[in-house]
Amino acid sequence: MTQFGPTRRTMIAGALAGSGLLARDPSARAAPGGPARIESVRATYGAAVRGDALANDPAYAQALAERCRLIVPEGSLKWPVIRPNRDTFDFADADRIAAFASRLGIGLRGHTLAWYGAMPAWTDAITSRAEAERVLTQHIERVVSRYAGLITSWDVVNEAVPDDPAAAGDLRPFVWSNTLGADYIPIAFRAAAAADPAARLVLNEYDLEYVGARFESRRAALLRIARRLVESGVPLHAIGLQAHLFADRRIDRDGLQAFLREIRAMNLDVLVTELDVIDASLPGDVETRDRRVAETARTFLAAVHEVVPPSAILTWGISDRYTWVPTYFTRSDGLPNRPLPLDASMRPKPLMAVLEDFTRSAA
Ligand code: XIL
Repeated sequence: MTQFGPTRRTMIAGALAGSGLLARDPSARAAPGGPARIESVRATYGAAVRGDALANDPAYAQALAERCRLIVPEGSLKWPVIRPNRDTFDFADADRIAAFASRLGIGLRGHTLAWYGAMPAWTDAITSRAEAERVLTQHIERVVSRYAGLITSWDVVNEAVPDDPAAAGDLRPFVWSNTLGADYIPIAFRAAAAADPAARLVLNEYDLEYVGARFESRRAALLRIARRLVESGVPLHAIGLQAHLFADRRIDRDGLQAFLREIRAMNLDVLVTELDVIDASLPGDVETRDRRVAETARTFLAAVHEVVPPSAILTWGISDRYTWVPTYFTRSDGLPNRPLPLDASMRPKPLMAVLEDFTRSAA
């Protein structure tokens, strides 16, 4: 059942109305009179959003409102947040982000319904196939139906492929693959489609773009999963390329483009879902670093765009003030990472100019 009907939307929007930041008229979002043809091949620009920062940092909310046509909660829809225990659903944080999007007429994506990387400990007790199917299906039905009509695109399954797959059929081990085998993937997609038949359903994956055997195996493994879904009539609409890009790795233009042609041949859409550029190994000098970051993104986006213009390009955060990168890829010189299109003071960096070449931002 959809819980975000007009009344609920108005209610949530009302809760945010006190802030002058959120007063923009959504109708002002219509593309300015630029050439419609060019506009139509450009991706929608968006960013991942943190609920706590949105609530407490006006400059951040302002930057998102000004630049994004699309947002996705960075963590607020993950299992540990909305399922602290088996019997409780907590949508407070996700609702706050949904209300912000709704109020401003910004599109909303959902991330994610099945991901090994964020599972609450209580799910370790799930060991039987029947129970696993029930818990996974009920979770997806509840979450997807709650935001039906608001969240129009879901990362249903995230990172299904192991980091370095030994064989083509290898899956990342976690509660759903351990109990349901490869079936967890079609089960998840079918449950999402049943809960919101209009939602675009995405298989999201990382590390697909580089030179090397590991990346070749990962592309092959993802294609195999996608092909099986398509061949058996499972509602899969798009592949999400996370695109956490490493400035010091070489992009496999040919390999990536061959992979994208296979996706296109299956009639699937492509989204860039989590773009940022990991700058841990780049020189400290800010100008050089920002230029290298921008170049890395341009090389990747140009290769993708040549084969299949992505329908959306989202960065994993909008400002260096809030980024996951330092948690995993700290610089040895102690300088702050600069992976995102705005710096920590919300000023646009060269990466923003690259994104503007490929996207329609709200700016
Ligand atoms: C990350 C968040 O950015 C962090 O804040 C969190 O601690 C861990 O997860 N791939 C994904 C995202 O699909 O969900 C991850 O997000 C980053 C890697």
